[in-house]
Amino acid sequence: PGDSLMRHYLQFKDLRAEEYAHLFDRAAIIKRRFKNYEKYQPLQDRTLAMIFEKASTRTRVSFEAGMYQMGGSVVHLTTGDSQLGRAEPIEDSARVISRMVDIVMIRTFEQSKIERFAAHSRVPVINGLTNEYHPCQILADLFTFIENRGMDRRGAIDMDCLKGRVVAWVGDGNNMANTWLQAAEILGFKVHVSTPSGYGVDPAIAGVKDASCYRVFKDPREACEGADLVTTDVWTSMGFEAENEARKAAFADWCVDAAMMARAKPDALFMHCLPAHRGEEVSADVIDGPQSVVWDEAENRMHVQKALMEYLLLGRIG
Ligand code: CP
Ligand code: NVA
Repeated sequence: PGDSLMRHYLQFKDLRAEEYAHLFDRAAIIKRRFKNYEKYQPLQDRTLAMIFEKASTRTRVSFEAGMYQMGGSVVHLTTGDSQLGRAEPIEDSARVISRMVDIVMIRTFEQSKIERFAAHSRVPVINGLTNEYHPCQILADLFTFIENRGMDRRGAIDMDCLKGRVVAWVGDGNNMANTWLQAAEILGFKVHVSTPSGYGVDPAIAGVKDASCYRVFKDPREACEGADLVTTDVWTSMGFEAENEARKAAFADWCVDAAMMARAKPDALFMHCLPAHRGEEVSADVIDGPQSVVWDEAENRMHVQKALMEYLLLGRIG
């Protein structure tokens, strides 16, 4: 702990395009080793603390299994079973936890909370989802896109496969949507965003400077026109449960179904960060159909996060 070159990963724009190219290369190598049952344990004696203030399946399993596979260990904390739920200041929690572990992953509500933690942490902090952003998910989604459209038989990656592509975002202008916009600005593709009125993305929160990286559509079908990837998310994100009924009414036309997919390119992929609600944001025939890559997308969380932890702890390999 206490490395002066320490980096955090609090939002997608914390890394540059060439760093993403490196991470995707490493993720491909790390995934291949996993598939071949080859041990790769560069994080022996390192500990990851995971702090969850919201529920999780994928984020917990992918970080926890990934850290063990790399030779390290994990401490799992939740609001209910730690002093975080009893009003210990986040700054004090950061000071204490970061003296004992090597890296921290946090899932919480406001982005400001993870920023305050990071400001007082001696070790790298990774955003495992906030109300505003979900960078690890977009990392996995982009890797999944590259695997399908920009990887040769030997596993070499072509980052140019992202250039000029169209990603259709159908649904809530939430943490996922914000992060897609940041990725588009950095990696050179375009997001077609369609949300019900009142649920749009706020470019200031998304934090993008170049308005040409996205275009807003009233009609979700038009947003899907010619898209290379169609993606959506739950209508009600964690922390917004009180709005559930109002959202169900507002989002009724924002269900990605076969008719919507038919407007996209014939080989368009479908992604969803999961958990999914069949019959709400996506129809069963789409999420369980041939264009859907949601299970690879979920698995890839682990491979990209292993590459991310390797990068934050050990720097550039190879
Ligand atoms: N996609 C995702 O972050 O899933 P969990 O909420 O299960 O971690
Ligand atoms: N937007 C969703 C993503 C869940 C992984 C949420 O924040 O609940």
